[in-house]
Amino acid sequence: MRWTLRFLTLLFLTLLCAIAAADPRSHYMIHCMGCHLDDGRGLPPDIPAFDDKLALLATSEKGREYLVRVPGSSQSPIDDAALAGVLNWILEEYAGEPVYTPFLESEISRYRHKPLSNPALMRAELLDAAD
Ligand code: HEC
Repeated sequence: MRWTLRFLTLLFLTLLCAIAAADPRSHYMIHCMGCHLDDGRGLPPDIPAFDDKLALLATSEKGREYLVRVPGSSQSPIDDAALAGVLNWILEEYAGEPVYTPFLESEISRYRHKPLSNPALMRAELLDAAD
């Protein structure tokens, strides 16, 4: 009886951890928050704040490619589906306006294998073009 109870408690805790690990917010906390901070404010200018510029970037094809290819995204140790989930969570949480086209796993797979060598330059070009 005691062993059954211990076993069930362990099983419950394991399931709880698995659910927490699969949640985009948890992925953000584990893999992104170290640099982007708990409220997405980052450390500008080196680490851009997550703000309404995200919505601008997420509306063009090149901008979406950029959001996937920045090293923090592309090289994170989570799979494509999980990265899609985190990026969608970031957009919902910080972009300030709804982004109507969520990232899908297939879009992440298309761009991710080629991390950007000069993200700051691509960002500046994209935001200049959007002005
Ligand atoms: C080691 C620090 C670090 C970590 C960890 C990190 N990032 Fe970043 N992130 C940066 C920096 C620095 C930039 C600016 C571009 C560059 O120089 O790479 C950036 C930029 C970005 C941008 C572009 C924002 C914009 O407005 O241009 C996105 C999107 C992003 N990161 C997503 C993520 C995601 C998702 C994770 C976690 C899975 C993550 N990052 C983890 C440092 C980090």
